[in-house]
Amino acid sequence: MPVAVVTGSSRGLGLAVVRRLLADGWTVHGLARGEQPAAPGFTPHVVDVTDPAAVQAAASAITAAGRVDLLVNNAGAASMNALLLTPVAVAERLMRVNYLGSFHCLQAFGKAMVRQRAGRIVNVTTVAVPLSLEGEAAYVASKAAVDALTRVAARELASSGVIVSAVGFGPVDTALTRGVPRAQLDRINARIGLSASPSPEAAADFLLAHARSAASGHVEYLGQVA
Ligand SMILES: NC(=O)c1ccc[n+]([C@@H]2O[C@H](COP(=O)([O-])OP(=O)(O)OC[C@H]3O[C@@H](n4cnc5c(N)ncnc54)[C@H](OP(=O)(O)O)[C@@H]3O)[C@@H](O)[C@H]2O)c1
Repeated sequence: MPVAVVTGSSRGLGLAVVRRLLADGWTVHGLARGEQPAAPGFTPHVVDVTDPAAVQAAASAITAAGRVDLLVNNAGAASMNALLLTPVAVAERLMRVNYLGSFHCLQAFGKAMVRQRAGRIVNVTTVAVPLSLEGEAAYVASKAAVDALTRVAARELASSGVIVSAVGFGPVDTALTRGVPRAQLDRINARIGLSASPSPEAAADFLLAHARSAASGHVEYLGQVA
């Protein structure tokens, strides 16, 4: 049975990815700070991805039991602020969760994948990067760092048989977007050619289709991004 690790598995997109993978017969490990649902084939790990020691401890426990075929770096946070009014603490938090969280997990599980000379890492990003979305500067910068990490990691790990790519979304109907005014979500969806925000399940299907075939280094978006 293939083995996946999904970060941010307590709700939203991450939880939908976990459920899809379990339905497809995968063994799945989840990393999140909050409560995660019990399910056959699923092992929850209480991990803050901003803590490199906690991530490494989880990776050591998981890889001691066997191989890891897929890592989905999904854990993330967002905040909407006018650039000039963005508190430094917000910019630091988003960089720690979105960029460094992905970085820590990529390092910890990437080493195991290099040892097994196979594996796939999918990082979750956003159309807000190519759209240079106003009002989301700190979030966009943290995800742009994830995109850059994806491209460099893809090159560095290619010779070890490890594929690294990213998948990006516009608004997905999760807790992350619940506080955003509907008109604003509609405007973003219109810019990427979508009539409505996809459900977490539809986004998970897109992510997993990407994970089956994406070339290393590729950043793929749900919707049309010029
Ligand atoms: N929703 C959207 O519109 C949208 C659009 C584009 C991209 N994305 C990206 O999609 C990903 C998932 O977002 P979502 O919409 O599903 O958001 P969500 O419903 O708020 O879920 C976020 C997940 O990340 C986890 N998380 C946050 N900080 C963490 C930390 N320090 N350590 C471990 N886990 C942490 C949360 O778990 P705990 O709180 O339990 O730790 C939760 O499971 C994010 O990377 C987000 O940037 C979302």
